[in-house]
Amino acid sequence: MKKQLAQLLICPACLPAEAALQAEIVKEEDEDIITGTLVCTGCKTRFGIEDGVAFLDPDRERVREVANKYETDAVVASYLWSHYAELLGDGNASEAYAAWATRMQPHGGISLDVGGAVGRFTFEMSAKCDFAIGIDNSVAFIKTARRLMKERRMTFQLKDEGLLSNEVTIALPSAWKSEKVEFIVGDALRLPFGNSTVSSLSSLNLVDKVPSPLRHLHEMDRVTKDKDAQFLLSDPFSWSTDAADRDEWLGGKPDGPYAGKGLDNITRLLEEGKRAPAWRTEKPGSVWWKIRTHTNHYELIRSCFVKASR
Ligand SMILES: C[S@@+](CC[C@H](N)C(=O)[O-])C[C@H]1O[C@@H](n2cnc3c(N)ncnc32)[C@H](O)[C@@H]1O
Repeated sequence: MKKQLAQLLICPACLPAEAALQAEIVKEEDEDIITGTLVCTGCKTRFGIEDGVAFLDPDRERVREVANKYETDAVVASYLWSHYAELLGDGNASEAYAAWATRMQPHGGISLDVGGAVGRFTFEMSAKCDFAIGIDNSVAFIKTARRLMKERRMTFQLKDEGLLSNEVTIALPSAWKSEKVEFIVGDALRLPFGNSTVSSLSSLNLVDKVPSPLRHLHEMDRVTKDKDAQFLLSDPFSWSTDAADRDEWLGGKPDGPYAGKGLDNITRLLEEGKRAPAWRTEKPGSVWWKIRTHTNHYELIRSCFVKASR
């Protein structure tokens, strides 16, 4: 983890209190903490840094036990394809990430991509802000994103059919700046950042995957600045009890406070600004987002977005 990040992070276990973390460095290389611990100055919880990866998810052990479905090589390869297939000149590549990136205005300060997976949107934001951070609770995704950040190219196997696969290599474009990105393991519902510290936040295809979508929005509101801030949320709204109890869904229901469509309800919540300064929203839109399983099998997902500023 880049050393400069240590002063930005707070203890996710102490929230809503903001307790600073103190870095105990065992090994560092070029301002990168390779091995160490971030110790909470409040509750004394110790968050490890191993092989450069900072583990700031207070429920890390629980997440490991339930075997996060995003941890397998096949799923990592699917997401690498989804994020970077354009770099392979693949005619089937999803244009979603580039389309989302055009919605974000360049800005000073920090951008945070929550549930950022293998890093594409964080890299996009590195060309638009002072420092871009991707956070995800999948260790495999964060390790992959960090490896890309450090090595800037990656060779991996893309499943062709059955046991057959093809080796492909991606190389990051020079506009995406490794020195301006970092990736950490953490929980979208307990972000390890202080109030009003982030200038832009993105939540792409995440709100229907967390156990409390409303808490995710509250965390977004908490860490983003009160003014000169941007927020981009995009989602297919595939509400499922696998991720969240029905009472928690922010849409997809015939009655109750969140009856109707998720995008409409989230837009309303942003504009109401009951807990934090209200957001001004732009006309919503949608992009086709793709996940690839093998040469002849893709999932085509309409991800509906709302862009907001305040
Ligand atoms: C459907 S994927 C979308 C990934 C990426 N945002 C994109 O659009 O390509 C959902 C992502 O959210 C992550 N995720 C799920 N629950 C999370 C949580 N509570 N905290 C942080 N990340 C989470 C998953 O590991 C996965 O990377």
